[in-house]
Amino acid sequence: MKNQLVLILDFGGQYNQLIARRVRECSVYCEVAPYTLPLSEIRKKNPIGIIFTGGPNSVAAAGAPSVDPALFELGIPVLGLCYGCQLMAKLCGGEVGAAPVKEFGKTSALFDRSSALFHALPEESTVWMSHNDFISRLPEGFRSTAHTANCPVAAMENPGRRLYGMQYHPEVNHTENGMQMLRNFLFEVCGARGDWRMDSYALRAVAEVREKVGKGKILLALSGGVDSSVCAALLSKAVGEQLTCIFVDTGMMRKDEGDEVERAFSEMPVRFVRVNAASHFLGKLKGICDPERKRKIIGEEFIRVFEAEARKIGEVDYLAQGTIYPDVIESGAGDAATIKSHHNVGGLPDTVGFKEIIEPLRLLFKDEVRALGSELGLPDYLVWRQPFPGPGLAVRVIGEITEEKLNILREADFIFRDEIATAGWERSIGQYFAVLTDMRSVGVMGDGRTYDYTLALRAVNTTDFMTADWVRLPYEVLDRTSVRIVNEVGHINRIVYDVTSKPPATIEWE
Ligand code: XMP
Repeated sequence: MKNQLVLILDFGGQYNQLIARRVRECSVYCEVAPYTLPLSEIRKKNPIGIIFTGGPNSVAAAGAPSVDPALFELGIPVLGLCYGCQLMAKLCGGEVGAAPVKEFGKTSALFDRSSALFHALPEESTVWMSHNDFISRLPEGFRSTAHTANCPVAAMENPGRRLYGMQYHPEVNHTENGMQMLRNFLFEVCGARGDWRMDSYALRAVAEVREKVGKGKILLALSGGVDSSVCAALLSKAVGEQLTCIFVDTGMMRKDEGDEVERAFSEMPVRFVRVNAASHFLGKLKGICDPERKRKIIGEEFIRVFEAEARKIGEVDYLAQGTIYPDVIESGAGDAATIKSHHNVGGLPDTVGFKEIIEPLRLLFKDEVRALGSELGLPDYLVWRQPFPGPGLAVRVIGEITEEKLNILREADFIFRDEIATAGWERSIGQYFAVLTDMRSVGVMGDGRTYDYTLALRAVNTTDFMTADWVRLPYEVLDRTSVRIVNEVGHINRIVYDVTSKPPATIEWE
């Protein structure tokens, strides 16, 4: 059975993907579409509800993003958030103007609990505000259902027409009970059944791939990352040995990673090819210090090695890719997937013969990909693997790469990850790793002088990888990590912790 759909119309706000993830967390399937999606297309999609996101514009500005007001006559429930709420107010005949007092950040709000969105919630709670404009006059037929000291319409509704608005952002964690408010909209107003679940998705996706591919052959470049691993697991369930996974071990992976990938996939009924190309890559990188050159060499060599293996397999019908929903949304509508596909595989489609690309994860967010991976029986160490850059440890060994430096870094990085896991921080940090700097300094161990490398530890939290904040790890965790690394790994006598956010720094050091 087809899932119920909630349509999220994107007005360019910074929390748009977050709204979509929150809706999915409520077990309701949703899609993000640009606000320009024509009414006829909206009707065709037959959504049970529509959510307008926030956006950076003022609804009063000339040419501000808008929708056809006939959208409100479709009989589909609509929830406007922030800009979306103001737009709804304006299009329904209300007035929006510059707020005498602008609100940013945590704000206390009072709620009318007779609203379907707020019943059973506290009368007063904190909401996350971020607005310059405010609704100065309600449209006819609407009533205000929440207010703050400076904002008389913090929420509004016309329950008869099933139109609702919130000036604040229920999707961010700072808004108390925000999830429950969204849930109320979805379940009480839109009549959601909560039918979006990864177990049923897995069954359906497997059936769809089977139907599409028939007896055809699929080729997948398996990196060992979460997306390509889950993609492989799904395809293996669907078509078994018609799938060939090529895993190019560049020698730039973390400790044991190559073997872990091999172990997981050698148990599956797929054709698994591991290419041990470490010495090839090391040879190509000899004497190279510039980070961009390292990236380029690894990217190009990867393609070359992959192609050589693919040629041995011969003609394939499909090239599979682990593209996920954020990639699709970020590239915009239309041929988004194609743009990303080329980007992902660095030109492979031009050189490997195949008929079509298949992307079985293109509707899923990262947390859903992980849930699907578990559903398909992938081990936790693959499902919960943190993001890892394509060039791997090559951009975490500063300066020239040698086998010795890679080994030092691998051991140190392993200890850091081990200590993070022991401290129970493993799943609450976006990315954490060690960097072997190119700097040496003087130390003393035992009675002797040392002159060895400085190792940097980095841990960041991020929602989009465009910005990131360094993680305030407990001193005890840093201390244990530092003591262990210096004692257990040779050639490191000094450890520093990176306390810069992005910007101004980047997440990786190179
Ligand atoms: P930066 O260092 O740019 O990293 O703040 C942002 C995110 O991207 C990852 N990263 C890469 N991923 N190829 C990749 O596939 C690369 O060359 C690359 N460089 C950085 C990084 O690990 C972080 O998650």
